[in-house]
Amino acid sequence: MQMSRFAVAVDGSAESKRAAQMAAEMAKLAGAELQLVTVVRPPEGWWGIEGSPPTPEAMSSAIASARSELLTPIQKSLDVEAEAVLEVGEPGGAIINFCSENEIDMLFVGRRGAGVVERVMMGSVADRLAHNAPCPVVIVP
Ligand SMILES: Nc1ncnc2c1ncn2[C@@H]1O[C@H](COP(=O)(O)OP(=O)(O)OP(=O)(O)O)[C@@H](O)[C@H]1O
Ligand SMILES: [Mg+2]
Repeated sequence: MQMSRFAVAVDGSAESKRAAQMAAEMAKLAGAELQLVTVVRPPEGWWGIEGSPPTPEAMSSAIASARSELLTPIQKSLDVEAEAVLEVGEPGGAIINFCSENEIDMLFVGRRGAGVVERVMMGSVADRLAHNAPCPVVIVP
């Protein structure tokens, strides 16, 4: 069984940080590479028929702050080398594409995320990944 490429989806939530820690430990045990993926969602309206696209400045500042405030600190907190990747789009779909394109063997995600709504159930991104990811998914509480 080939288990050489792991990924973890991080959105800054405590759950996703725990998922990153677990992914790092498992990657170490398996001798696998690890990639951290964060998806920056464009402002509401961008995907609809109405609404104008975000300005390039707004998007690039959202991307820069996601990298410096979210991805880089998590990357530094791990005791393995991990590549940090930023994608723009709708989180579930973007992570599924990332896993397909990069031939990820195992994906780690938090059970819930940084969403404002307190949930009893699994978050919608975790739910979508559990159902549709092209690889095994580890859901971390
Ligand atoms: N934008 C994102 N980029 C990368 N990973 C994400 C992103 N959003 C969610 N995730 C991953 O999915 C996990 C679950 O988050 P999810 O968004 O499903 O829950 P939530 O924020 O509590 O609820 P919802 O977004 O459905 O209101 C996170 O811990 C993280 O691993
Ligand atoms: Mg969310």
